[in-house]
Formats: sequence, C-alpha cells, structure tokens
Amino acid sequence: MWFRKGRKLKTACAMRKIEATVQKQDLLCIEAAAGPTGFVVFGASGDLAYRKLYPSLYELYCHDLMSHHFYLLGCGRSDLSDEAFRDSIKNNLQQTLDRPNQEKLHTFVRHFSFVSGDYADDSFYQKICQRMTVQEEQFKVNGSRLFYLSVPPFLYEDIAGRISRMKLHCPAVSGRMQNVRLVIEKPFGRDLDSAENLDRVLHHHFRESQIYRIDHYLGKETVQNILIFRFANSIFEPVWNRNYIEHVRITAAEQLGIEHRAGYYDQSGALRDMFQNHLLQMLALVAMEPPVSFEADRLRDEKAKLLRSVRPILPRDVPAQFVRGQYAAGAIDGRPVVGYRQEKGVPQDSATETFVAGKLFIDNWRWKGVPFYLQTGKRLRRKLTEILVTFKQVPHSMFLPGEWADMAANTLRFQIQPEEGMYLSLQAKRPGSKICMSTLEMAVDYQQVFGVKMPESYQRLLLDCMLGDQTLFSRHDSVIASWQLLTPVMEFWKNQQNLVMYPAGSDGSDTQNILAK
Ligand code: BG6
Repeated sequence: MWFRKGRKLKTACAMRKIEATVQKQDLLCIEAAAGPTGFVVFGASGDLAYRKLYPSLYELYCHDLMSHHFYLLGCGRSDLSDEAFRDSIKNNLQQTLDRPNQEKLHTFVRHFSFVSGDYADDSFYQKICQRMTVQEEQFKVNGSRLFYLSVPPFLYEDIAGRISRMKLHCPAVSGRMQNVRLVIEKPFGRDLDSAENLDRVLHHHFRESQIYRIDHYLGKETVQNILIFRFANSIFEPVWNRNYIEHVRITAAEQLGIEHRAGYYDQSGALRDMFQNHLLQMLALVAMEPPVSFEADRLRDEKAKLLRSVRPILPRDVPAQFVRGQYAAGAIDGRPVVGYRQEKGVPQDSATETFVAGKLFIDNWRWKGVPFYLQTGKRLRRKLTEILVTFKQVPHSMFLPGEWADMAANTLRFQIQPEEGMYLSLQAKRPGSKICMSTLEMAVDYQQVFGVKMPESYQRLLLDCMLGDQTLFSRHDSVIASWQLLTPVMEFWKNQQNLVMYPAGSDGSDTQNILAK
C-alpha cells in the first residue's frame, strides 16, 4: 500500500498478532450531564443535521446526558410545520438507529419545532426570537442558548451578525451572556485572509469563549485517546522525540468520493477539506508539549504553539514537499466508479485535488529533523485513518551482522478508524531450538477490550458545547496558524499543472518522490 512503506525484514516471518491484556478497571471517569439548553439550529432541514446532529442528541437524551429541559428550534428555508419537522426527524431516526425506543423517541421529538424564513431577512430573526421565548417558557430553559450554524460557511458572518444585531444572543430570562454559544462547522475560511476576516466578524459579536468551532476528528474516541496515551503513561514520553523516532505518518484514506457535494468540494479540494483541519489537528495532538493541566486553554495553547513551530513552506519547496492528485475512473471492491471529473456537478476540466500528501518538519528541540508525512485522499482502496510512529532502528544488531539495516523498526500505530485500536510492533524470539526472529504486534482492539459501540464523535462534541467545555474545539489561533502554513502551497498550486491522476480504488498517487525516505 502506498501509505505504508515499511521495508521487509528478510529474516522475520509474517507479522503475528498478540492481544494485550487490559485491566477493565476505570481509574478515572469523568462524565457530566448538560443543564437546560435551547438549541437554535440554522440549516435544520439539511443533510448534516439529520445525519449527525439529531441522532447524536437522541443518544445523549437516552443516556440521560441531556436535561429534559431543552428545546430545539429548527430554522431554515423549507416551509415545514412543527408537526412535519417532528415527523421527519422521527422517521429518520427510526431508519438510521438500531431499534430506537418508541416512547423515548416520541417524547424526544416533542421538544422540536420549526420556523421557516430567509436568512437575509431581519423579520425571520424576529420570528425566531418570539418562538425562543415561547419554547423557553414551555420547557423551562433558563437562559442557555446554543446557536448552531449548520449552513454553508459563506453564511456564517451574516447570520452571526444578525443574531447579534437582533439581540437573539441576549437571554430573556437570566440575561447571563456566558451561557450563549455559537457553534460552527469547518471550514473556517478558505485561506488566511478569509479566515482572519471570519474571526474579525465573529469576534465583533461573540467572545472567543462563546465560539465553538467543530472539527469532528477531535470528537473521535481514538483521537482523544492520544492525550491519555501520551500523558497518562510515563514510558513513552522519554522516547517521544528526535532521538528515538525516525518519522511519523498520518493517513486519512477514504473509499468515499465526493457524494453530493460537488459544489462545495470543487471549490475546496483535499488540502482545505481534510489537511488544514483534521490532519493538522492530529499532528498537533501527537507532537505538542505536555499541557500544564487538562483545561481547554492550556491544551489549546500547546496545540497552537506546535502549529506555529511547523517549518514554513517556501514556494520553491512546494514541489519537493507536497504532491496532489485526482481520481480517475476505476473500481472499488469490484464496483466500477467514475472519475472525479465525471461526478455530477464537477467541471470536466476541474483541477481540484482529491488527494494530497505533504512532508512537514517541526522546528523545535523535540522534533528537529523528524519528518511528519501527512496524507489524505478520496476513492482509495480502503478506508483507513491512522497515525503511525516509526522508531529508529537498533544501532547495531548482534543477530544479523552486516544486515542489521534490514531489521524492522518498532512501530506504534494508533488506528483511528475503522476498527479502532493501538498496535505496537516488537521483535521476539520464535520458540524452538533455532534463533529465529519474528515481528509481533501487540494489539488493543477497542471494541473487543471495552465491549462497547464507539460513540459518534458528534455526541461528545455536542455534550461539550452544552457543558461549555472548549477542550475539543479549535481555537482561532490554531486555525490561523494552519492557514498561514498552507497558504503558500495553495498560492503555488494556482499556476501549476502538477496534478497526478490515480485510478479510483488504487493506493493513491505516485508519492514516491517525496515520501520515500
Ligand atoms: C469531512 C470532510 O470533514 O470529513 C469529508 O468534509 C470527509 O470530505 C469527512 O469525507 C471524513 O470524515 P470521517 O469521520 O468519515 O473520516
């Protein structure tokens, strides 16, 4: 596979898997239920809301992590009655969830209502305000308001401004400003200028502590586990640096294409869609210094510092450090799929990348000289998101004099999805009279060990929005640092024809030249 280029160990037999024994005892378990909350969802009849938001809220509701004093006011252009909105949510949950509890479903959707209008019309916001007051009284929601913008990003500034001008963010009952939150989804801008402009507008109306920027990768269990792994175990920190680590590879490979999002995706591409946010956030968690405490801003300080330490990419270095590709027609799991330019809504001469790989260096004491390879693409052979840490080889092998360079290095792999887990590879002696070395993999499979279905990342993120915990949300300085880093790449690509075509279902584009070590 292109995204794992391990050398073959001549002497070793095929890698064997051994299961780790895990004590199923919780040392620390922090869980808090949210207090009364009013959700005002813009874009409430859109795809994201139905696929992620409502199912996640329902799960929180069923697990008693949500107060029963809540309401959800859907806002959108569709002409929907309250009844029709509730029915559509109920039907959707019935189809997507595994045997939902009918009674719970019925009481859950009673908290939902809908108001339709035009986002650019002030009278729409007046209607919203009136309905909020009614819902707040009916469900005894005291002051907590969460404005969730599930709309195309070009509407963020306008809607946020109108929420503020029409004073929707001034709770009628308690008047407590700190309980008003604005939730937005990535992308936060499309380059440095637009990201700075978005921040200026949002900060004009809301304080940073009220803004929740969702990067759903940060809500994934296995991504959160990086923090526990690094900072609750003492044995890895001494080797977590340039002296022991050869390189780190972060991969997010998808089988999916662009689905029905040609309009958005063709303006975005893999660099903006995945690299600038999900990949760089994972990089920050893997490479940052230990935060002084597990508090939102202490953790986010370290992430921002790390992103600012990534070596700036000069235009002349872009061809050596970055490669981009686009999928052509091919087959996935034996099923023929069309090329990107044949997807509905994509121009036939589109130069948008559906694959990107980049090599980054972090200029600080810990990481100087260690390459970090980040890569992501659509329509690849299989879905795989992982962080692979490759340690340095032994300096000398007494077992294979002269051939030690072929001995496999230890690797530590965080598999984010699918089949979430952690895997540590080791060399070990194969039982028998001969000296025969095997590479073993100590495996921790999350599902197997903990025996629970992995929660959807939005569940955790929505709960945190309600609780007012910003730990897993992107802060403006990290967002700006990542655009600062990637803007020269985007600028350089504007005038280049350097798009590599790869067949859908393959292992990706020809990245040998920059990714080969
Ligand atoms: C989104 C991107 O942020 O992440 C999509 O916009 C991508 O293009 C998706 O498919 C991948 O998320 P996941 O959780 O399936 O890896």
